[in-house]
Amino acid sequence: MSRRFGTVQALLGVDLDFGPGVHAVLGENGAGKSTAIKILAGLDQPDTGTVEMAGNPVRLRTRDSALGRGIGLIPQTGSLIGELTLLENLASTQPRQLVRRRALREKLESAAASVGVAIDLTTPVRRLGRAQQQLGELALTVAQGARILLLDEPTSVLDADEIHGLHVILRAFAEDGITVVLITHRLAEVRAVADAATVLSHGTVSWTGKVADVDDETLARAMVGELQASTPPSRAPIDQSTEPALVLEGLWAAANDLAPVRNITVRVRPREIVAVIGTAGSGQRALAEAAAGIVPPERGTRRVTGTVAYIPEQRAEALLPSLPLKWSAVLPRLRDKRFTRFGVLREDVVDTFARHLLVRFDVRPPNPDLPAGALSGGNAQKLVMGRELDTAPAVAVVHAPTQGLDLRATQRIRDLILDTADAGTAVLLISADHEEARALADRVLVLRDGRIIGVYTAAEYDHAVHRLVDARPDEDGRQ
Ligand SMILES: Nc1ncnc2c1ncn2[C@@H]1O[C@H](COP(=O)(O)OP(=O)(O)O)[C@@H](O)[C@H]1O
Ligand SMILES: [Mg+2]
Repeated sequence: MSRRFGTVQALLGVDLDFGPGVHAVLGENGAGKSTAIKILAGLDQPDTGTVEMAGNPVRLRTRDSALGRGIGLIPQTGSLIGELTLLENLASTQPRQLVRRRALREKLESAAASVGVAIDLTTPVRRLGRAQQQLGELALTVAQGARILLLDEPTSVLDADEIHGLHVILRAFAEDGITVVLITHRLAEVRAVADAATVLSHGTVSWTGKVADVDDETLARAMVGELQASTPPSRAPIDQSTEPALVLEGLWAAANDLAPVRNITVRVRPREIVAVIGTAGSGQRALAEAAAGIVPPERGTRRVTGTVAYIPEQRAEALLPSLPLKWSAVLPRLRDKRFTRFGVLREDVVDTFARHLLVRFDVRPPNPDLPAGALSGGNAQKLVMGRELDTAPAVAVVHAPTQGLDLRATQRIRDLILDTADAGTAVLLISADHEEARALADRVLVLRDGRIIGVYTAAEYDHAVHRLVDARPDEDGRQ
């Protein structure tokens, strides 16, 4: 299969072959994993290439036609309707059978039993935990007749126990003769459940074969490729005797019900970019919110000298989606005197300010009256980052800034981060993207299960990255 989006060649001549059992598809962000399985699920069409089942060519034009052939996708973000129960979700996919509710219930219950957990069929999905939602969606897909299950990074939102639970279920499916295709970027997970693996790298297959026949080093190399010479030679080295602008010392913190962080110590100096690399579930969000001052530390200290800008992972949370985007553009400056007169916001001044900001940070379309929610992901991010970093903060906490963005927008955002650091801001970059850390950071810390398990200079990191892809925490959580 080949598939191109504009200037991005997402897949180029990719051959995939899935037999019975659990088959892992591995690859870094942007490698083409989701694109490949969307095609198999009937959600996208390849530019060239064919899909065969048991040797016969098939056409998978829609999700329903793929499901009709027994192929079901559990997408990365889930696809259930939150207001409906699982049963109602199933009914909504089969309108003609709406009357036979009892039959549907039985179908779902037996599928739930095959998933091996008690699944709540009568609570709106939105009120279930994430693991429950995911298992529910798995049961639903099986109830719809899927014999080939495609799971797009299902474990990125789960904790260690939930991951183990899912693995047990996937193995059971495999024993039942179901083909399981599991997308992941964790090598430990491949070892734990997969019989076979295929590694995608920049839209092509870089390795495929039986898991028993390969070592982790080979898989890791296939994922990240041969590394180029070290990163930004143009940046002046940071004087490590400068007073840090951000200090976290022995910090313990938790954000909502998400993975907490334990005993984190980080110092970021003016002009310095420190990256914290860790996959979802390792405490990234807790660290980001604690560093940004949104959640107080449970233990340890946080010190900052000056203002702090925060660019959250959920960039939509930083916008006012239904209002004209000029209001989102001035959000951190609403107390500026120039925007108010006699306590009333001056829309004309806001409008002019927003117009300049949109042009300067290349937000398209540069129309301050458009609702912020109408911007594409890349443009929304340019707006949020532009508005935050334009205030010349002493510290910027930037979480997953280019996740899900196309190459052009990614480059723009990375340049903006480099410019911000060069202008004197201390940048704490929290990301799951090794490539990003290599491109931007002066120092890299590796976060696993809430602890820092390694600290590297940019040069050391290049050498260490192959091992890091599957690093595990050591006992004392050393920094
Ligand atoms: N609908 C789309 N429009 C434009 N670019 C896309 C689209 N879907 C994927 N891409 C691009 O294709 C590449 C591969 O994406 P994807 O398959 O999602 O990678 P992965 O799942 O391995 O992270 C990325 O560069 C991504 O930005
Ligand atoms: Mg993906």
